[in-house]
Formats: sequence, C-alpha cells, structure tokens
Amino acid sequence: MKGIILAGGTGSRMMPLTKVTNKHLLPVYNKPMIYYPLHTLIDAGIKDILIISGKGHAGDFLELLGSGKEFGVKLSYAIQEEAGGIAQALGLAEDFADNESVCVILGDNIFEDKIKINDFKTGSMIFLKQVPDPHRFGVAELKGNKVIGVEEKPRTPKSNYAVTGLYVYDEQVFDIIKTLKPSGRGELEITDVNNAYLKKGKMKAFMLKGFWTDAGTFESLFRANDLIRQKTNK
Ligand code: DAU
Repeated sequence: MKGIILAGGTGSRMMPLTKVTNKHLLPVYNKPMIYYPLHTLIDAGIKDILIISGKGHAGDFLELLGSGKEFGVKLSYAIQEEAGGIAQALGLAEDFADNESVCVILGDNIFEDKIKINDFKTGSMIFLKQVPDPHRFGVAELKGNKVIGVEEKPRTPKSNYAVTGLYVYDEQVFDIIKTLKPSGRGELEITDVNNAYLKKGKMKAFMLKGFWTDAGTFESLFRANDLIRQKTNK
C-alpha cells in the first residue's frame, strides 16, 4: 500500500501565521506539523509516500523532508496548483498509486493511535472519533455501530462522531473522484468519495482509541500543541 499526505490548500483560516509559510510547516510543540501525519503513515508500515502541497512553499517541504532517507522511507512530491478540495488533491496521486491501494492522511491531522491497515484488501476504511464540535467536520450517521451516511459540516449533526482525516481506499478511488461535482464551497469533497463507497457497501469504519485533533484553526493548533506536549512529557 502507498501513502499520501495532503498538504495543499491555502491556510486562509490561519492568517497571518500562514502569510510567509505553509500551515503544515508550523510548529506543533517540538516538530513541524507535517511530521505527525508522516509518522502515522510510517508507523502503519508504509514505505512509499507522496506529499502533495500547494505551489507557494513546495521547496520548503523538500528542504525539510528530503528524499525520506532520514525516516527510512521514500518520499515523492507533487503540486496542487489551486485549492480545489481534498478529493481534487487526491486525484493528482493516480499515477503515483499505480493501481495499488492508498492510505491518505490530511497534513493537519494528528493521531495518537497506531493505525492497523495490514488486513485491508478492497473497498475503503474510515476512522471515527467522538468530538464536542462535530459541525466542524465530516460527521458519520450511525445505525447501531454501522455507518449509514456521512455529512460534511452539517448544521445539525446526526452524531458526535467526526470522520477523521485518515482514509484507506482501493484503486477504484480515482474513478470515483472523476465522477464528483464541486460542492457548495467549490471543492471536490472527500465526504462524497466516502458516500460513494458507502453506497456500494464497501466501507468499513473503525473507532479511534487515542486522541485525535486537526490543527487547522488557532484553537485546534493550540490544542494540538498541548496534547503533544502532554504526551511527550508523560
Ligand atoms: O480534519 C478532518 C476533516 O477534514 C474532515 O472531518 C472533513 O470531512 C474534511 O472535509 C476536512 O475538513 P476541513 O474543512 O477541516 O479541511 P481543510 O480544508 O482544512 O483541509 C484539511 C487538509 O486537507 C489541509 O491541511 C490540506 C489538505 N487539502 C485541503 C484542501 C481544501 C489539500 O491538500 N488540498 C485542498 O484543496
């Protein structure tokens, strides 16, 4: 399985922190933000990883992470010219995936758990976490412990289970992305990809045990710093 870190987007919610650098290079306690998703993929056993970034600071990612030798993996880089959405960014990885399945992680997501993906064969996997503010995320609709739908940032969430920014997809994901239409916010949504797999009955959902947070707002970045600080000094 190949790994993909999505670190495009504009970081507009984080201005002026993101005026002269990229959101994913900001510090989270003692490391640049992108180290955390990178280590989540490495800890899952993935050795071949593509980093997709925006145009602005692509060279900084290369300078920071290089070939991947330091981490014992192979890193490749690609550019998302415009922030057309998470699914649009993922679509750029089709050649890199080369008909293998992919483990996709958002560059501003921080997971405490080690993710087990060894058993994955086909379809897709998503990872859920209970949160106090589900309206900020993709939210799972559950029947018992089965996911029956996912809604992107609903006003009235049907549960408090956020769909976190870690996804495993088989090679069909790229055909699904080609069928997507831009959402109300003008983006190709990863939630639409997940609903397409759900419709086909090809999605498995797992509950995370450890902490999870995004770091894409001032508040969540602050929280991420605090969580990592506590874990580091335990
Ligand atoms: O954090 C988890 C949430 O991430 C999910 O629950 C949502 O379903 C999903 O849509 C996403 O929501 P956000 O609105 O918080 O995503 P955001 O626009 O902040 O983008 C998250 C990361 O995805 C960002 O750090 C880089 C990458 N990205 C995003 C966009 C819009 C790209 O690589 N390219 C893009 O065009």
